[in-house]
Amino acid sequence: MFTPEMMESVKKVEATRAERMAMEPRRMTAEEKDALLKEFHPDYKEEAFCEIKIGPNKGQKAPKELVHLLHSNSRLLADQVDLSKIDYDVDVLVIGGGGAGASAAIEAHEAGANVMIVTKLRIGDANTMMAEGGIQAADKENDSPVQHYLDAFGGGHFAARPELLKRLVMEAPDAIQWLNKFGVMFDKDEEGNMITTHGGGTSRKRMHACKDYSGAEIMRTLRDEVINRGIPVVEFTSAVELIKDSNGRVAGAVLLNMETDDYLVARAKTVVIATGGAGRMHYQNFPTSNHYGATADGLVLGYRVGAPLLYQDTIQYHPTGVAFPSQIYGALVTEKVRSLGAMLVNVDGEAFMHPLETRDVSAASIIRECTARGKGVTTPLGSGVWLDTPMIEEIGGPGTIEKRIPAMLRMYMNYDIDMRKLPILVYPTLHYQNGGLEIGGDGFTKVIDNLLVAGEAVGGIHGRNRLMGNSLLDIIVFGRNAGKAAAARAKDVELGEMNLNHVEEYAKELKEAGVETGDVSPLLLPKYARHER
Ligand code: FUM
Repeated sequence: MFTPEMMESVKKVEATRAERMAMEPRRMTAEEKDALLKEFHPDYKEEAFCEIKIGPNKGQKAPKELVHLLHSNSRLLADQVDLSKIDYDVDVLVIGGGGAGASAAIEAHEAGANVMIVTKLRIGDANTMMAEGGIQAADKENDSPVQHYLDAFGGGHFAARPELLKRLVMEAPDAIQWLNKFGVMFDKDEEGNMITTHGGGTSRKRMHACKDYSGAEIMRTLRDEVINRGIPVVEFTSAVELIKDSNGRVAGAVLLNMETDDYLVARAKTVVIATGGAGRMHYQNFPTSNHYGATADGLVLGYRVGAPLLYQDTIQYHPTGVAFPSQIYGALVTEKVRSLGAMLVNVDGEAFMHPLETRDVSAASIIRECTARGKGVTTPLGSGVWLDTPMIEEIGGPGTIEKRIPAMLRMYMNYDIDMRKLPILVYPTLHYQNGGLEIGGDGFTKVIDNLLVAGEAVGGIHGRNRLMGNSLLDIIVFGRNAGKAAAARAKDVELGEMNLNHVEEYAKELKEAGVETGDVSPLLLPKYARHER
């Protein structure tokens, strides 16, 4: 499967393996990391960003593609919707059918609320399902939430909102127990203790996993729970605009049936945005590990009603996306591969970094190797570096790969690459939006009443870089909290008359700022989606 040139390079990787395994890889100093990030991390590429011209973050920068969405028109400028015809009337409306949305709906239902999920694809079509490596929680004797906090705070460049990060780490052990109780099949030893491993930037082994399909297993369980409880799920239906009431509070959403193009009105006392990430925006032309619907919809919905964004200018590029074969370009190669011992190695078989640096540092280091240093391996779509996977079996013994990362083995075997015997080629892939809508510790947006956000659409939990396994954790912790808070608030809400005045106001602001575009947002599906009927 590999080209002759690649096989020449593989020989060098094999020749240096024993020597590399005998040495302890060096960690970079803080100064080295800073210099590396500034020169090679995509977040520092000024020409890839531009200024937001209107709204709460006016004057700040964001990726050009996201700014384009924020500067686009509402569909409802052209299409009229009759708000007096209410199709759904609920206490809590959850927008998004991934892990955060499902967790929110389960807790709102548990609290007695009349809750409904609306999702543009099917429940479970979400980045949660794509997550592989695991979920962090400090629940072992040698660990503590304080230690977890310090790791994540440092890894996020000290920019995480303390009240959010504190909640994340303090509620992590309970999140694991909640999932375990629902039947998530975590990896356990013969005595039934959870097996935990390191991730990049962790000082303790606190990564709980379900082999390398942790997200799929968690989503399977949450989806079953939603269905078993009889929580209504409206699928293939997108939220295209939030609705406000006469008191300026959020009061529901206008929905678009993706199959018939009909608009529907959902009235709700509280709304939870749980729409996930933005990988399908392909910032800076990166491939992505994200699911098909990851188009930043929630950020647009929230921003148009006036909710501010936080850290919208920082994106996570997972260091190890597939670089070869081209058919799976950009797919995730879980960080667990490195935590099981595989080293990152260049075309000459040299280890050029510690394999468990934080993600932003690792991604920048790989980009430097492939660009400035000219030490990448040429591939049909660009270049990549080796992830020396046969080391895993040398360290853990034969069978380790099949036992611990079977999904990876299967993915590569589909292309006749046996990662137990041969290294694999990787390059950074667009993985996660570190930024999103700003919330307080209670999950509510700070300026728009009765609007909550959970999961990847939130900004500020992780600061400017997220550690592995803290996203599966945040969807559970903040999803659950949003569901509880939304249900509690709904008890006190008397809705006023519904309106879409903010849509007209936003359009006026765009015009006054001289921004004109024929495009509409939220995007809902990637640009390359085929719309055939
Ligand atoms: O590498 C991974 O398995 C990804 C995990 C994460 O983004 O948390």
